[in-house]
Amino acid sequence: MSGPPHVASARGGGPRSSALFAEACGLMPGGVNSPVRAYRAVGGTPPFLVRGEGARVWDADGREYLDYVGSWGPLIAGHAHPAVVAGITETAAAGSSFGAPTPLEVEMARAVAAAVPSIEMLRFVSSGTEAAMAALRLARAATGRRSIVKFDGCYHGHADALLVKAGSGVMTLAHAPSSGRPEPGAARPSSAGVPDEVAAWTRVVPFNDVDAVRAAFRDGGGDIAAVIVEPVAGNMGVVPPVPGFLEAVQDVCRAAGAVFVFDEVITGFRIARGGAQARYDLTPDLTCLGKVIGGGFPVGAYGGRRDLMEMIAPVGPVYQAGTLSGNPVAMRAGLETLRLLDDDAYRRLDELGATLADGLAGAARRAGVPLVVNRVGSMLTPFFTDTPVTDATSAQRADVAGYARFFHGLLARGVMVPPSQFEAWFVSLAHTADDVRRTVDAAAAALAT
Ligand SMILES: Cc1ncc(COP(=O)(O)O)c(C=O)c1O
Repeated sequence: MSGPPHVASARGGGPRSSALFAEACGLMPGGVNSPVRAYRAVGGTPPFLVRGEGARVWDADGREYLDYVGSWGPLIAGHAHPAVVAGITETAAAGSSFGAPTPLEVEMARAVAAAVPSIEMLRFVSSGTEAAMAALRLARAATGRRSIVKFDGCYHGHADALLVKAGSGVMTLAHAPSSGRPEPGAARPSSAGVPDEVAAWTRVVPFNDVDAVRAAFRDGGGDIAAVIVEPVAGNMGVVPPVPGFLEAVQDVCRAAGAVFVFDEVITGFRIARGGAQARYDLTPDLTCLGKVIGGGFPVGAYGGRRDLMEMIAPVGPVYQAGTLSGNPVAMRAGLETLRLLDDDAYRRLDELGATLADGLAGAARRAGVPLVVNRVGSMLTPFFTDTPVTDATSAQRADVAGYARFFHGLLARGVMVPPSQFEAWFVSLAHTADDVRRTVDAAAAALAT
């Protein structure tokens, strides 16, 4: 930030956070409840956060940060937005969970279906993982086939079938680094505990490579139930689809009778109200949602063609259930968030995203540091590389040690960004042009050192 440097240590959390982390490490694996939070990719120890408001968060040592993690995507309205807080307070006071149908679920389902026309019917769950897992079960049931196609570096949660060449934390922790161009059909699990036999049903191809998708179908012997894709990849860092790629994959699926699944857990209501499918004018058979639709609460959803969704229990034979699915407080948080997302909101998000991306690129140019900034709307990633990033292989050419130094340079100046090269930064409606200018100043100072 401009002005005097922030007081945080160059290695993360202050004394109170460090003490909490030490205790947490004895109680939870790595001291965290989701791996990337542990700062293994950037070194140091994480600040423990106690408060958020708008675009800012505060840690247990009283340090303030401008936040571009945004809870990894959900907080498009910023932290503790007054409308969201008022809504969830009212709803919680009337009973936080019933395990019975509620009007809020209907209202939320109506809002999602109205914004995403391909979703004729949907089911709410409690996480993106559940949404992707259930969508694939449904695709397998509908087609009577077993194999699925996913893309190297895309992450769809931690269901067994999807932990193959996965992005996000898996890529970050380098347990399963991509070894060049993956062989269609030769995938190995990204996690211990996933049987090879399960991973064998998952065929992995490079993102943005439609020829590889066609080859997977040729090799697949008519057994491919679905292709699942993050339409804008966000879990190898942000990687946009090249023009025509998604359309071609859709055509391949239609020709082969496979179910085309868009995982819009990040992009849904993030890059447009109708998600990536609105932005690129596509009609997937099934869509997975999460993050923004929960407004900071645990929510996922999957939905799409009515004939497919009517295969879900209790109407059809595909079983899927959840104790807290459609939770009223989560539905209310999502509804209040969605109400804030009008055309003007997306214009502002896009402008702020563009200003930040341009500012980072300019600061890197002036510092003589090779940097490629990929951006779609309010999601972006600065990659420390001088070659275009179009897939997992090119993403992994980035200098992760350089990113780690940059990360700590920003943190020490009061700017919190994802603690990994292979994640998206998120701009929210709470960020201002001044916040972005301060961030670019902090980036310039960090890059200069
Ligand atoms: C595209 C995508 N799909 C699915 C998931 C899994 O969602 P969750 O972490 O809510 O289980 C994520 C999480 O980051 C994601 O980015």
